Order: sequence, then C-alpha cells, then structure tokens
Amino acid sequence: MMARPHVMVVPYPAQGHVIPLMELSLILVKEGIKITFVNTKENHDRMKSAVPCGDDSLLSQICPVGISDGMESSEERKRPGKSSGAVLKVMPEKVEELIECINGSESEKITCVLADQSIGWALDVAEKKGIRRAAFCPASAAQLVLGFSISKFIDTGIIDNDGTPLEKQVIQLSPTMPRVSTEKLVWVCVGNKTTQSHIFQLMVKNIESMKKTEWLLCNSSHELESAAFSMAPEIIPIGPLLSCNQLGHSAGNFWPQDLTCLKWLDQQPPNSVIYVAFGSFTKFSPSQFQELRLALELSNRPFLWVVQPEESKIAYPEGFVERVVERGRVVGWSPQKKILSHSSVACFISHCGWNSTLESVSNGIPVLCWPYFADQFLNKSYVCDVWKVGLGLEPNESGMMTEGEIRSKIQQILNDEELKSRARDLKKKIQIGTAQGGLSNKNLDSFINWIKS
Ligand SMILES: *[C@@H]1O[C@H](CO)[C@@H](O)[C@H](O)[C@H]1NC(C)=O
Ligand SMILES: *[C@@H]1O[C@H](CO)[C@@H](O)[C@H](O)[C@H]1NC(C)=O
Ligand SMILES: *[C@@H]1O[C@H](CO)[C@@H](O)[C@H](O)[C@H]1NC(C)=O
Ligand SMILES: *[C@@H]1O[C@H](CO)[C@@H](O)[C@H](O)[C@H]1NC(C)=O
Ligand SMILES: *[C@@H]1O[C@H](CO)[C@@H](O)[C@H](O)[C@H]1NC(C)=O
Ligand SMILES: *[C@@H]1O[C@H](CO)[C@@H](O)[C@H](O)[C@H]1NC(C)=O
Repeated sequence: MMARPHVMVVPYPAQGHVIPLMELSLILVKEGIKITFVNTKENHDRMKSAVPCGDDSLLSQICPVGISDGMESSEERKRPGKSSGAVLKVMPEKVEELIECINGSESEKITCVLADQSIGWALDVAEKKGIRRAAFCPASAAQLVLGFSISKFIDTGIIDNDGTPLEKQVIQLSPTMPRVSTEKLVWVCVGNKTTQSHIFQLMVKNIESMKKTEWLLCNSSHELESAAFSMAPEIIPIGPLLSCNQLGHSAGNFWPQDLTCLKWLDQQPPNSVIYVAFGSFTKFSPSQFQELRLALELSNRPFLWVVQPEESKIAYPEGFVERVVERGRVVGWSPQKKILSHSSVACFISHCGWNSTLESVSNGIPVLCWPYFADQFLNKSYVCDVWKVGLGLEPNESGMMTEGEIRSKIQQILNDEELKSRARDLKKKIQIGTAQGGLSNKNLDSFINWIKS
C-alpha cells in the first residue's frame, strides 16, 4: 500500500491566520491526506480548549503539535516587531526538529510543507530538507502583488531600501487594482522606523522564499481580483473557500461564540440589521467607543454589535441597555459567517480584514469600511473603489469617527439601491467561481491531486 501523503501545515501564529489554515487542512483531511498542524504552544493550548473533539469529527484527524515561539509573555507577543523577531529565531529550529522526529518515527514521512505566506522560513526549512512546499495567502492577491513589486518601487524611487516612501503618493498598479497611498503600505503603518524596517526586511525575505514554492495559493477568486491575477499568474486563486463552514462550528475559534444572536436575528425584519464587528486586535479608545455606541443608539435601526470582552469593560451610560434592548444586541463573539448569510442583515460595519470583507461580499452584504490596521486600507479600496459595494467612513481631523459620520453613512448605504444591486451581482459571480467547474474550484482540485501525486 502506498503511504498516505502527509502535509505539515505551519500557520502564522495569530487567530486570523490560524483559522484559515485550519480550514484548508480540513479540506485536505477530507481528501484522505494526513495533516500535522504546527502551532505555537500558546495557540495550541487555546485551540485545544476551544475545539470540541468528537471522534467522528474531521478535526480529530488533524494531528496538532505545539512548539515554543521563544516568547515569555502574551504582552511580548502583542508587539509586532518583537514577536516576529522571536518567531524567527526559535520556530524554524523547532519545525526542523519536528520534521526529523516524524521522519524517524513510525508515522508517514512529511511529503509536503504548507505554510502561511508570511512564514517564509517554513518554506526554507522544507527546501533544506528536500520536501515539496506550498504557500497559502489568506489575504488578497493584491497584497501579494504589492509585495512582489517592492523591487520595482525601489528602482523607481517610490521607496528607499528600507521601505520608507520618498514622498507621499498614490500607487495604482493597474486601473482595476486598489489604489494605495505610500503611507498606507503594509510595512509603513506598523509603528516606528525600527519596526517598519524590520517588517519590511522580513517581507522581502518572505517574497524570496515564496518564489521557491511550487504552489502559491490564495483564498481569493478571479472574479474578485482579475487584475492582480493577470499581473502575477503564479498566484493561484482557490477561494473564497466558504464551504467549510458546513462543519457547524468555526474551526479553531479561540473565543466562545454566542449563538443566541442567531435566534434574535430570526425575529428581525429582512434586510434590516446593522452588523458591527471588528477583528480581535482592534481596540478603540473609550471616546471612540462612545461615538459608535451613540451612532447605533440614534440610528434607530436594529443592530448586532460584537464587543470584545476587554472593551465591554468600558462603561455604557446609564439607561443605554434599557433603551436599546428591543432592537439591539451586544455580544462577545459571534458566528460571523452565519450572521452574514442571514437574510435579516442589511449591512456590515467592518474593519475590512480580508476575511470579513470576503464573507460580506460573498453574501452580497454591503460594507461600511472602518479600516484600522495596516494593510486593511487596501481591502477598503477594493470594497469602495473597485467593486463599489461599500462606503468608507472618514475620520475627522482628530482621527475620530464621529457619531454623525457613522450615522450618515449608514443612512447613505442603506438607501443606495445601485450599490446594493452591485453587491448582489458580485455574490453571484463569486458563487459561480467556487462551484463545481468554476475556476477556483478547479485550481483547488489540481492542488489536491499534486499533493497526492
Ligand atoms: C529521513 O530519514 C532518512 C533516513 O535517516 C534520511 O535519509 C532523510 O534525509 C530524512 N529526511 C528528512 C526530510 O529529514
Ligand atoms: C520602536 O518600537 C519597538 C516596538 O514597539 C520598541 O521596542 C523600540 O524601542 C522602538 N524604537 C524606537 C527607536 O523608538
Ligand atoms: C474571520 O474573522 C471573524 C471576525 O473578524 C471571525 O469571526 C471568523 O471566525 C474569522 N474566520 C476566519 C476563517 O478567519
Ligand atoms: C486585508 O486585511 C487583512 C486582515 O484581515 C490583511 O491580512 C490583508 O493583508 C489586508 N489587505 C489585503 C489587500 O488583503
Ligand atoms: C477564505 O475566505 C473566506 C471568506 O473570507 C473565509 O470565510 C474562509 O474562512 C477562508 N478560508 C480559508 C481557508 O482561508
Ligand atoms: C472630532 O470628533 C470628536 C468627537 O466628536 C471631537 O471631540 C473632536 O473635537 C473632533 N475633532 C475635530 C478636529 O473636529
């Protein structure tokens, strides 16, 4: 009997990155491929306690391994420069040891390493060990293409060797690609000069590593990003991979989900609810939090608001809960995909993470963009300028999204019939690409066949 193909999966150690690779792993497991899922000890433990592990569940067929990331505390992990530094020092060795250890054991040998595209070193380790490799990008192809264009940006004097823009300007690689201002480039808006330079060098290195992979997969589709895929044909669209939510629970979600909000949604009129959720790393100042709260209260529409446990410690003014209890729900964490596919939802106020953005457009839900962190500005540009299925919130001169601005954009988006109809069209196109015979679907099949070959 031929040995089962055995893929070692290495995600980037942050929730947004762990979950996508876990989902991709589940797709591979269903195809009879063995998976060893490498996580940092910290994420590994959190996942173990969050994942219900029945014997019949596909999840239980994934072999999770926790390795040290070389960091002392969770505070340390929160600092971007610092954490990537430690990850870089300790994890490669650990992964190499693990490959050797599996090689020396009874288990099937590792036949392929599948790593997050931001973990170039895992691809390097695989190359060193003579193992086939593939990279997965959970974000947009546009972001990869921007990365691939770094040397061009340096040659044409847009940025210097450290990634610093020489002057403020707007870059647009093609007319149907998002426009991005040089000050919003991924590595430019991540902190001080030292951190920026560090992240930039890391990206340059990752891009080198990516050139050596046999597959560079992207959870996106031709329908969404045709310009990016024609600029960089080596990027293979296999998404958006939405089907995996049939599992019932979101794989590897670290926070407990509040399912009562679905029952509540059932009771709301169709197309009425404003869904508000930001990623796990978004933190608002207390005054920003209050502006948003006031906007939701005064909007006079049903809303479902996901508030991080830490944020919910910020006090609500007296009477708020009583005033909105009929038409508002505040929850700690939510089954987002189910919510976005619910017919009661009318629009989504989002930080525009790629994942959230796609979940929204795949369901035809218009997005009110509140970009917050680094490269999410590119996602906003797709939503507002390229696909034209959403609007952007504009901060005032002190960087505050005011109650008035939020409320007026909610009004505007819900009254824009053309925008809503474009959102519905995009949903249809995406469905065709991922259905049997669609381009994304065929690409995924080829990848699976390659692993098995
Ligand atoms: C696995 O072990 C064999 C025999 O010791 C060795 O020849 C091979 O290079 C090892 N492969 C990896 C990937 O470590
Ligand atoms: C830059 O930021 C990093 C991480 O936040 C910090 O450790 C470092 O001291 C800062 N450097 C300067 C020059 O401020
Ligand atoms: C996407 O992000 C949302 C929250 O921003 C989360 O609920 C969901 O589980 C994430 N899904 C994936 C696949 O990362
Ligand atoms: C979009 O947001 C996600 C965060 O979820 C980020 O990883 C990604 O790089 C952003 N930009 C693009 C163009 O995908
Ligand atoms: C792919 O993108 C969709 C839409 O954002 C998301 O729901 C899904 O979890 C992602 N899957 C993977 C494997 O990244
Ligand atoms: C921005 O909005 C906040 C909140 O309403 C307000 O306190 C601040 O003065 C505004 N800044 C400017 C420059 O208008």
